[in-house]
Amino acid sequence: MRIFIDTASIDEIKEAHALGILDGVTTNPSLMAKEGITGKDNIIDHYKRICEIVDGDVSAEVISTDFEGMVREGEELAKIHDNIIVKVPMTVDGVKAIHHLYENDIPTNCTLVFSAAQAILAAKAGAYLVSPFIGRIDDTNWEGMDLIDQIAEVYAIQDFETEILAASIRSSKHIVQCAQAGADVVTCPLSTIKGLFKHPLTDIGLEKFLADYRKGNS
Ligand code: E4P
Repeated sequence: MRIFIDTASIDEIKEAHALGILDGVTTNPSLMAKEGITGKDNIIDHYKRICEIVDGDVSAEVISTDFEGMVREGEELAKIHDNIIVKVPMTVDGVKAIHHLYENDIPTNCTLVFSAAQAILAAKAGAYLVSPFIGRIDDTNWEGMDLIDQIAEVYAIQDFETEILAASIRSSKHIVQCAQAGADVVTCPLSTIKGLFKHPLTDIGLEKFLADYRKGNS
């Protein structure tokens, strides 16, 4: 399972990259706005900077909502770097755009997926990645992980090639459950990636090893 960071922050991307376990980056318009990246030229430059740091998939989301606009934007984004994956929302025009881009060898990430039905459409259209948002489902008092299980089952039975990118990850537990469910990718905030390292018994154990070493070598 690949691990992506879900941010547009260059500092966070650099920090995650330095950990040696980072496989890619996802962004969205909210994350870009949070970093104060506005205007087409600045946004394109920002994607270029991200691609220079991480040698892996970098999802760049279209802003248009109509088929023609999504295709035009997708083609422009794809020209930025070979690692750009065009992120397209799960709408009727979005699915049409995903199929058009697929036929023109431009890989896509179908985003804002909240049901297995939508995941089937993404796969049929030829999306390279499908992004079910599990944390946002949890927020509605339903079980986001059930969706990952369901999509993984359907994709395996149907031999769909689209990869499952579990998004809206909120905890280490989500990440482990996604690995168990067979998700191909998880995309997480930096804090959640760093949470994977933590276990109190590791800290206690290390402290004791070093204390014993100091006793024997003083
Ligand atoms: C996915 O690509 C999205 O950017 C992201 O995971 C959304 O997560 P959120 O629900 O924490 O905003």
